[in-house]
Amino acid sequence: MSRLNTRVLLKSRPTGMPRVSDFEIVQSPLAAPGPGEVLARTIYLSLDPYMRGRMNEGRSYAKPADLGQVMVGGTVSEIVESNHPGFARGDFVVGYDGWQSSAVSTGAGMRKLDPRQAPISTALGVLGMPGMTAYVGLLDIGQPRAGETVVVSAAAGAVGSAVGQIAKIKGCRVVGVAGGQAKCDHVVRDLGFDAGVSYRTDDLFGALRAACPQGIDVYFENVGGVVLDAVLRLINQGARIPLCGLISQYNATETTPGPNIRPLLFNRALIKGFIVSDHMDRAADFLRDCGQWVRDGRLKYREDIVNGLEHGPAAFIGLFDGRNLGKLLVQVGPDPTRD
Ligand SMILES: NC(=O)c1ccc[n+]([C@@H]2O[C@H](COP(=O)([O-])OP(=O)(O)OC[C@H]3O[C@@H](n4cnc5c(N)ncnc54)[C@H](OP(=O)(O)O)[C@@H]3O)[C@@H](O)[C@H]2O)c1
Repeated sequence: MSRLNTRVLLKSRPTGMPRVSDFEIVQSPLAAPGPGEVLARTIYLSLDPYMRGRMNEGRSYAKPADLGQVMVGGTVSEIVESNHPGFARGDFVVGYDGWQSSAVSTGAGMRKLDPRQAPISTALGVLGMPGMTAYVGLLDIGQPRAGETVVVSAAAGAVGSAVGQIAKIKGCRVVGVAGGQAKCDHVVRDLGFDAGVSYRTDDLFGALRAACPQGIDVYFENVGGVVLDAVLRLINQGARIPLCGLISQYNATETTPGPNIRPLLFNRALIKGFIVSDHMDRAADFLRDCGQWVRDGRLKYREDIVNGLEHGPAAFIGLFDGRNLGKLLVQVGPDPTRD
């Protein structure tokens, strides 16, 4: 293994859309693990929309990434040296080592993976944080009942694709909203949604109304803006809206006008923001149910894998242009379970 560590640092805090120049790629000597520590080689790095918030200075639900430090991020790695009783050389783990090719850590927060149960990369996607977000947000807040209509935005992405399929498993009619016909076709043809609606249209409300003839009972919100506005005009009495993300606003430099929320009032609807890390009590249920559904082929997933850590910044920026289809990952090093 190379004794050099490639690291991607946060160089500047962006205004608006991040740029590749907001990141800096450096190489530094690899440290040896001390007593009780492990050295892990990164195989996959997860790229996620929340990282945009970490690039900002301001108040959020988590502390900002530090300038000049390695960008934060979830990783799947192989242990290459261990002075820790809980981990051995050759173990595969999911952890939070950030945008770097190797990391020395205490192993805190790391979980061992069994490659015979599922491909190790899924621990960052359908069987990881995005999958768990879909599971808790939809089932605990959305509380879908068989026969109801569930709409999900960013439908072809990591969270949205799982939301729609779990809603199908629960017997709902499922409509996905995504950017463009190809993604809409994908969610219907490959993932079994009942309909796909592109928000890149002149008449989003009309298209959504046609796809939801019985109105909308659950809206899993990932994007905000015009999609939320159109959905609210179609919600049924007692509708539930898990507010998971607002990606259309993450790069906004000015406050955007909010949607008309009057329909929430007269439909006695619930909208509830949630952050997946507050729901770790559901992790075992999530892994049991979604693990089984993935093995049964009822919960499909697509990974969009970019090769090479040096391409991480550009790939990350692509999340805000909808360039990814499915879970966006960077392959940082070889995956011996797959290659
Ligand atoms: N609350 C939580 O704990 C939690 C946890 C994980 C994720 N999230 C949120 O869940 C959402 C989805 O995350 P993900 O990891 O699954 O990402 P993703 O959906 O795999 O990728 C992001 C997608 O968002 C869409 N998008 C980007 N800019 C947009 C815009 N201006 N308007 C509408 N759509 C836009 C793009 O798809 P299109 O081509 O369809 O536009 C893009 O592919 C994000 O809002 C994220 O912040 C929240």
